[in-house]
Amino acid sequence: MARAVSRRRRLGAPILDLTLSNPTLAGLASDPGVLAALTHPAGTTYAPDPRGDADARVALARDLARRRPAKHRPRPHDLVLAASTSEAYSWLFKLLCDPGDEILVPAPGYPLFTHLAALEGVKAVTYPLALQDRWRLDLEDVAVRVTSRTRAMVVISPHNPTGWTLSNGEAAALMKLAAARDLVVISDEVFADFQFMGHRDWCSMPEHAAGKPAPCLALAGRGGRRVSLGGLSKEAGLPQMKVGWLLLGGEARWRREALARLDLIADTYLSLATPQQKALPAWLRGAWAYRRELRRRLKGNRRVLARTLRQACRGELLPAAGGWSAVIRLPGVREDQEDALALLREEGVLVHPGYYYDFTGGTFLVISLLPRPGDFAEGVARLAVYLDRRHKGGGRS
Ligand SMILES: Cc1ncc(COP(=O)(O)O)c(C=O)c1O
Repeated sequence: MARAVSRRRRLGAPILDLTLSNPTLAGLASDPGVLAALTHPAGTTYAPDPRGDADARVALARDLARRRPAKHRPRPHDLVLAASTSEAYSWLFKLLCDPGDEILVPAPGYPLFTHLAALEGVKAVTYPLALQDRWRLDLEDVAVRVTSRTRAMVVISPHNPTGWTLSNGEAAALMKLAAARDLVVISDEVFADFQFMGHRDWCSMPEHAAGKPAPCLALAGRGGRRVSLGGLSKEAGLPQMKVGWLLLGGEARWRREALARLDLIADTYLSLATPQQKALPAWLRGAWAYRRELRRRLKGNRRVLARTLRQACRGELLPAAGGWSAVIRLPGVREDQEDALALLREEGVLVHPGYYYDFTGGTFLVISLLPRPGDFAEGVARLAVYLDRRHKGGGRS
């Protein structure tokens, strides 16, 4: 795929990129105050706090309380700032694991966690998100993967790329399993602001009758050992500003001990620049408009995709409750890379083959819902043309 893309670029052939997931390149209105926020006068002084600037954490706690209303309010004390969500993961793996220990991560999934784990000498063991009528988490299937070396389980809600979302009922069952098997639950909530299914629709699905989607696991209860992760790259559309965080929740004693150890880990790096931290309150204020605009775009693009695939009758848009991606299942079982390569060659449309995300048992393509609506509609229309040709007997080549 990489060779095919660079060859096309070298030849100057156009590419309609349906994998674009960089919000700074998606033509969204940018907040004019983003750079000005970096000139806060206190940015010239160095007074590091391992958990991050106290004012920044107060602003973040307030912002999270507004965005993720939950049983408990976030406390600035329980927040630790990092240079990205990815860095927050690596700090957690250092905190929770010895070399050779194991972390459970979902498959299919975004190919980041195995690398993050390996770089800490930790083994990422996958548990399946199973596709039945929709994606489902089977906790019995998770339980059989827990060994004496398993330290934590990662859930991603909404999940990238399937859009599966954890319900309150599932969260409660998950915390019960975690308590029984002595696991920390790490809840990646970087896409929690992007649920295109309203609570009512989601709850009306039979398997979610137990409750609404659970947007912030760390704040949903005081039992167990739980951590929620977030970051500006998705939540404010500012991946270039490199701010992420972790929020500890659960039993008070565990939180106290974990925070003391995280203080040492974070103090060893002190990876955030002071101007970044001083700018955080302004960036959080500016992010509301971005999220509104992006939610509209995600919903609109998904509608266009659903309509086009319905008319083409050659591919199935898999159900999702949120996130930035859409997964399309194609008829028949063949290497999904063949389809992705043919689509690029024949229609100039770039998509991700499902195997990038460890999809198995079918032919899957993954596309981003972020591109500009005009580009997206054009790309999806060409995808439909390709699917029609594929149905009638293969590609041109
Ligand atoms: C589910 C999920 N978590 C975390 C990240 C990384 O976020 P950050 O840019 O804050 O490291 C990604 C990146 O796409 C992601 O998909």
